[in-house]
Amino acid sequence: MKIAIANDHAAVAMKKEIVKMLESEGYEVLNLGTDTDASVDYPFYGEKCAKAVLNKDADCGIVICGTGIGISISANKVPGIRCGLCKDVTDARLTREHNDANMLAMGARTTGLETAKDIVHEFLKTPFSNGANHIRRIHELAELDGSAKAE
Ligand code: RB5
Repeated sequence: MKIAIANDHAAVAMKKEIVKMLESEGYEVLNLGTDTDASVDYPFYGEKCAKAVLNKDADCGIVICGTGIGISISANKVPGIRCGLCKDVTDARLTREHNDANMLAMGARTTGLETAKDIVHEFLKTPFSNGANHIRRIHELAELDGSAKAE
């Protein structure tokens, strides 16, 4: 399984720890930056990771900024992306089960590293529930962002 990951300057340290963890567990990681503390703009990184997922350069994506809010908003502007901002493992489980999220967002300034690692594990191991209600709502999301046409 290949995972794309991107972040802004607020999340370099957390991103590096998550990459280290994932690689040690055998995942292939596509690191899309940034890797320095120099200030950058999260919309660029949210979009970059989203496009990697849509282009199937990776099976799913992880984006991290200070709060996770800006970079999740950015990713969710890319049609076909369902990026869940998660602050605990319950969010992670439910955004997979209910939203079939193809991207995970977290906040490096608002979530501790150990919780972030648990969130990543929960996100990666939880399948979509395949419930009829959830499938219908995901199709409605695709209608909203125009990606249904491409299905
Ligand atoms: C950067 O200072 C900060 O605004 C960004 O990381 C994020 O929290 C935005 O939502």
